[in-house]
Amino acid sequence: MKQTEEIKRRRTFAIISHPDAGKTTLTEKFLLFGGAIQTAGAVKSNKITKTAASDFMEIEKQRGISVATSVMGFEYRQTKINLLDTPGHKDFAEDTYRTLTAVDSVILVIDAANGVEAQTERLMEVCRMRDTPVIIFVNKLDREGKDPYDLLDELEDKLSIQVQPLTWPINMGPRFKGVYNLYKKELNLFSANKTKIEDQVLRFDDLNKPELNEVLGEDDANQLREDEQLLQGVYDPFDREAYLKGELAPVFFGSAVNNFGVKELLDTFIEISPNPLGRPTTEGFVHPDQNHFSGFIFKIHANLDPRHRDRIAFLRIVSGVFSRNTFYHHVRLNKQLRFSNPTSFMAQDKSVIEEAYPGDVIGLYDAGNFKIGDTLTQGEPFFFKGIPSFSPEIFKELINTDPMKSKQLEKGIEQLTDEGVAQLFRLQPGNRKVVGTVGELQFEVIQYRLEHEYKAACRFQAMNFYKACWMTSSDNEQLQTFLRRKADNIAYDKDDNPVFLAPSAFLLDMARQDYPALTFHTTSEFKDAVT
Ligand code: G4P
Repeated sequence: MKQTEEIKRRRTFAIISHPDAGKTTLTEKFLLFGGAIQTAGAVKSNKITKTAASDFMEIEKQRGISVATSVMGFEYRQTKINLLDTPGHKDFAEDTYRTLTAVDSVILVIDAANGVEAQTERLMEVCRMRDTPVIIFVNKLDREGKDPYDLLDELEDKLSIQVQPLTWPINMGPRFKGVYNLYKKELNLFSANKTKIEDQVLRFDDLNKPELNEVLGEDDANQLREDEQLLQGVYDPFDREAYLKGELAPVFFGSAVNNFGVKELLDTFIEISPNPLGRPTTEGFVHPDQNHFSGFIFKIHANLDPRHRDRIAFLRIVSGVFSRNTFYHHVRLNKQLRFSNPTSFMAQDKSVIEEAYPGDVIGLYDAGNFKIGDTLTQGEPFFFKGIPSFSPEIFKELINTDPMKSKQLEKGIEQLTDEGVAQLFRLQPGNRKVVGTVGELQFEVIQYRLEHEYKAACRFQAMNFYKACWMTSSDNEQLQTFLRRKADNIAYDKDDNPVFLAPSAFLLDMARQDYPALTFHTTSEFKDAVT
């Protein structure tokens, strides 16, 4: 059956990294392999180097294509690969977290010299929430970096995941000679050549063959023999099931800018990474091969040109087949919608599609019907789970500075927060609007967009909150008492759930002690408690 075949040949994933580790470079090389682009430099970095909203806006406008680069589809070895882009800037971390809900696996890029960095750890925490399978690519081996054994220890330690090298580097920096594939028993020789496509691969089932000395020189050949012995002793054969469960991360070494080790990574990725997976819903688990179509919105991209105020909602298809011009059920609004121009993204081109399959991400033109987390089905009334909001880190009160424009401000902030630019909480009395973000840059972006797109004026006033915590309770009376006593710190999110705006880690701890029946969560879906 066509649907089953289409599912089998799809892979939907994201590349994640701390800024500068090499995500953009690796993405570009993947697209080159997929034939989706012909020249290096075609993928624009989504890095924002200056932290001014106007720069950000400028970049967003220039990128116009950024909608297209949000999803990069390409074909490689009969496989349809959907690569979802994640913002590089840390202030947009929440956007990245949400994108991770729409993928089935990730490739994590690490800079060999810097090892695990702050953003790497946070991204991995999000992956672990859903047990997302992870492949690690240690990049920049053409430069001096950390000792590979130390790196493996660091990865296990800081990322709390078992790792297993599938390739092993032979030296680093100027003496870097290549990697040995422990799994395929192949020696991949390094040459610093940014334009080459094929790796130079030699088969070496037995490293004791004297030819190895000729290829690597005696010292390096002996070192590799020793390393291989050691690694074979430490690691069991690669366990794909453990990888698929998110328990074990295979590790590759290479140099993205030299296109070295990239093909090896991509080939193995296709071999071992999961096909499109199902997702949990309020009515049970939905499998991709189910006949009925279903999907969810994980990202909304606004057109920043005020003359064309349309938005594109990104839908991840979970089950069934999506067809153009067919009515589907918008569960939250209990409304039937159909789409005449659903868009697919192949590298940097957009095109209208007739059909799309599980694992695909399509763009739906939207006049304001969608917000992040919305579910579309063929009629069933369930919602997808696992698209949580994360506690913001910075909170500010939105203050209207032009009373004549209250309506515009209200509408603007509602829409911007539906898009996921920031989170909106309402604090009583007075229905005060608290805007929560991960970074300062969003406040500037919001102010700029409210002004330019909605003609509303505002300013932000700092509020000293530490975290927003959603709550569950085994004792409703205790919950009600808490809500009453802490009224000054209780706000309501967009779905009218009460949220405790904890002023500090200390006061959060106190609340936990004083109200033992309550559990405080830093996400709106409750797999993690605040630690
Ligand atoms: P990011 O998306 O993760 O932020 O990183 P990006 O790919 O933009 O790479 C960051 C920098 O690291 C770039 O240099 C890039 O060329 C370099 N780089 C990527 N892979 C390798 C590698 O294997 N070896 C070495 N030595 N460098 C690598 P840049 O100077 O910031 O930009 P550019 O002017 O070189 O493009």
